[in-house]
Amino acid sequence: MESIQAIKQRFGILGNDQKLNRAVEKAMQVAPTDISVLVTGESGVGKESIPKIIHALSHRKHGKYIAVNCGAIPEGTIDSELFGHEKGAFTGATQTRSGYFEVADGGTIFLDEVGELPLTTQVRLLRVLENGEFIKVGSSKVQKTNVRIVAATNLNMVEAIKKEKFREDLYYRLSTVEIYLPPLRDRKDDIHLLFRKFASDFAMKYKMPTVRLEDDAVALLQKYRWNGNVRQLRNIAEQISVLEQERNIDAEKLKEYLPGYASNLPAVIEEKKKDSDFSNEREILYKVLFDMKNDLNDLKKLTMELMENDSHKNVREENESLIQKIYGNNDEEEVIPEEITDEQLEVLQIQQQNPTDKQDKYYFAEEIEEEETLSLQDKELELIKKSLERHNGKRKPAADELGISERTLYRKIKQYDL
Ligand SMILES: Nc1ncnc2c1ncn2[C@@H]1O[C@H](COP(=O)(O)OP(=O)(O)OP(=O)(O)O)[C@@H](O)[C@H]1O
Ligand SMILES: [Mg+2]
Repeated sequence: MESIQAIKQRFGILGNDQKLNRAVEKAMQVAPTDISVLVTGESGVGKESIPKIIHALSHRKHGKYIAVNCGAIPEGTIDSELFGHEKGAFTGATQTRSGYFEVADGGTIFLDEVGELPLTTQVRLLRVLENGEFIKVGSSKVQKTNVRIVAATNLNMVEAIKKEKFREDLYYRLSTVEIYLPPLRDRKDDIHLLFRKFASDFAMKYKMPTVRLEDDAVALLQKYRWNGNVRQLRNIAEQISVLEQERNIDAEKLKEYLPGYASNLPAVIEEKKKDSDFSNEREILYKVLFDMKNDLNDLKKLTMELMENDSHKNVREENESLIQKIYGNNDEEEVIPEEITDEQLEVLQIQQQNPTDKQDKYYFAEEIEEEETLSLQDKELELIKKSLERHNGKRKPAADELGISERTLYRKIKQYDL
């Protein structure tokens, strides 16, 4: 059996904290069994590596490994994504489709953000866990699958159960073994080590000398709360690596990058206040731009598809429903981003990324708007970053502030790799 150190190296896990080692060791021990595992811990602690270790060290390692972000899939399509659907099960279901549980037969499914699953999906999941049975959406035929489930959450599941957002029976099924990853603030000895590694990676990436922390900055790093954990530490290492001319960073400099620190100084509060009044206005403006950009993208997609696929009836149907979403129909349903399916979103993103694949007529319009879209994207990114910073990386209040749903924010975080 490989040693813990070897496994950590193989999966890019840094640090020697005992609790971290215990988590990795637990993953190694449980891997050869088929036991369901629930990985818990705050956002950004490194939960995503655990299911990979479990799969790679299991007898299923040659089978499929499918990671599903339960929080990122719109509620209306999640059952069909996970369990598949029959032809005609709902409008747009033009063919029978296999879900992840069918595709991953003999392999492992990682259900990330499992706490976000709708209650109806939780019922279906419980059934798979209990006897390997599932039913496609719109079907009555019971199918069998043999899938190992590893789930992860950064929610307090006991709270979620109390609030009846998560089924207690499912929780116990999922968490036969729980692997807890401690927050970074409880792994003080690892913090500087992680910073040095990230700083050296970014120095290489941006072809600049590596930033170094003075002793007082190291002390500050270890005292800080790190609500966003390793993800936040990595972001800060990147910001400093890119923005600072002086490559020796002292505590004063570091404070500028740590949310919550600068405002401890009374003299700065006055300044900050004025500044934030201004930035509030600016942020409202960004939000308007952000909304406009979404509408623009919808329209662009629509125009492009109309031009390209004149003869494809089902695309036209899709377009019609998009038009209805954009301009409203008699039911006056509000346009909310979740209603655009992931597939549509993917199409949109692919089209934006590969302009040369497409016909000139579409990209004529795209080119004119490209610059505008780019700067809008910067603004959107900045707006999201600021909001997340303000709420210490907590998505719910950040999404509320931005006026978008948590799901949409989640997608944006993935999209911009925040
Ligand atoms: N011990 C570690 N060593 C190196 N990198 C790490 C470590 N822990 C986390 N990271 C990095 O930090 C980032 C966040 O980790 P990850 O995506 O696993 O977080 P998470 O626990 O799944 O958070 P969330 O609940 O928000 O999804 C990733 O880029 C990951 O590679
Ligand atoms: Mg994660």
